Amino acid sequence: MSESAIITIGGENHQYPVISGTEGEKSVDIRKLRADTGYITFDEGYGNTGSCQSDITFVNGEQGILRHRGIPIEELADKSSFLSTAYLVIYGHLPTKEESDAFRARIAQNAQLHEDFRHHFHGFPRDAHPMAVLGSMLNALGCYHPEMASNNRQQDLDNFDDAAALLISKVRSIAAMTYRMKEGLPFVWPRKDNSYVENFLHMMFSEPYALYEPATEVASALDLFLLLHTDHEQNCSTSTVRMVASGGANLFPSVAAGVSALWGPLHGGANTAVVKMLQNIHLSGDDGSKFIEAAKSGKARLMGFGHRVYKNYDPRAKILGAATEKLLNSLGHADPLLEIAKRLETAALQDTYFIERKLYPNVDFYSGLILKAIGIPVEMFTVMFAMGRLPGWIANWREIATGTIRIHRPRQIYTGPVNQNYIPIKER
Ligand code: CMC
Repeated sequence: MSESAIITIGGENHQYPVISGTEGEKSVDIRKLRADTGYITFDEGYGNTGSCQSDITFVNGEQGILRHRGIPIEELADKSSFLSTAYLVIYGHLPTKEESDAFRARIAQNAQLHEDFRHHFHGFPRDAHPMAVLGSMLNALGCYHPEMASNNRQQDLDNFDDAAALLISKVRSIAAMTYRMKEGLPFVWPRKDNSYVENFLHMMFSEPYALYEPATEVASALDLFLLLHTDHEQNCSTSTVRMVASGGANLFPSVAAGVSALWGPLHGGANTAVVKMLQNIHLSGDDGSKFIEAAKSGKARLMGFGHRVYKNYDPRAKILGAATEKLLNSLGHADPLLEIAKRLETAALQDTYFIERKLYPNVDFYSGLILKAIGIPVEMFTVMFAMGRLPGWIANWREIATGTIRIHRPRQIYTGPVNQNYIPIKER
């Protein structure tokens, strides 16, 4: 007999089916609850709410497991590349040689931005935050490709392969141009012979008079960073992308909304916040112990620690911590911030406050340090997260667009005034 759950309201029993995921996760399907009883569920922050069924990514936070389409993140980090992982996440399987060549060729062909894009960049103040620029530019991009951004679901799906490759390619050019604009540097056009990551670094750091050729270790560290950010199930930004897509919006505004959601310091903005925190600790002469005490008393927050889902080590943090150390060693650089981060981690993992609350390093704890070692400026860190996360947003948009999902529209418990009369202004 299939499993079910009974909810008793006002002495009456109501039976609801249990839906199980392929990894054994269970949920009570309450879709008929309001119609049956007039009640809704209340779950602020959605900690107990499954908003969808998805085939893309599995996370088991208790055990620290992350798999894309069934493949553990550790294996992908070891054997795959960012673009192959992007393909896996979007299309559901690792690409064959032909599929991989076609995907990479599509991405390579799309690196150039329309000349008119320069005007958009010039319309921003020099010191505009790169995340504000990125979100606006992704929306603007759709205007240059109206055939892919029609809000006619079938038409948008017919153009999906082109739109996905175009976005993955151009997000990198937009990111690099944003940096160049901020620095007052001339824009650098992409090269046809470069890999995805090399091309990004070229557009960031080459000068008209001097080509920037990244060391192999630098390019592979950046590729690993992007790979580790490819997708992470129903986080704040991905849920936002799905929410926007559920209203029928095309891919461009949906991922632009993802950028906005990612920006905050509790989400993708944490990678910037971690490095700023480490810099402040360093400048204050603290070895980290005073900061730990401040975090325990609620006066500070240990950025890069804690996670809604992981109640164990985030596997991405483990990989990034080791990769940061490896990169710094191979470049012969010492970063005092890495030493502080390691001390904070050791202290927190032995401290009752963090142990009781199951607070472990998350992906953002070491990711800023690896970006810093690569030479990416701090204000670009969250843009780098967005570049990595784009394939995940695209895959989730596609799941919505190809599914029979209704518009996302949660309910609320209204707690405001009841039935007031309008008071004319002179009587207020
Ligand atoms: N430092 C100190 N205390 C913390 C921290 C932290 N980083 N994170 C959680 N706590 C405490 C929190 O104060 C609460 O304590 P108490 O029970 O005494 O009130 C308890 O741990 C539970 O925390 P919560 O805020 O209810 O947890 P949440 O699931 O709502 O929030 C989080 C998760 C990631 C927003 C939070 O842990 C946090 O703010 N971490 C720092 C920011 C950060 O690193 N964000 C990146 C998240 S991972 C990547 C991503 O999503 O982009």
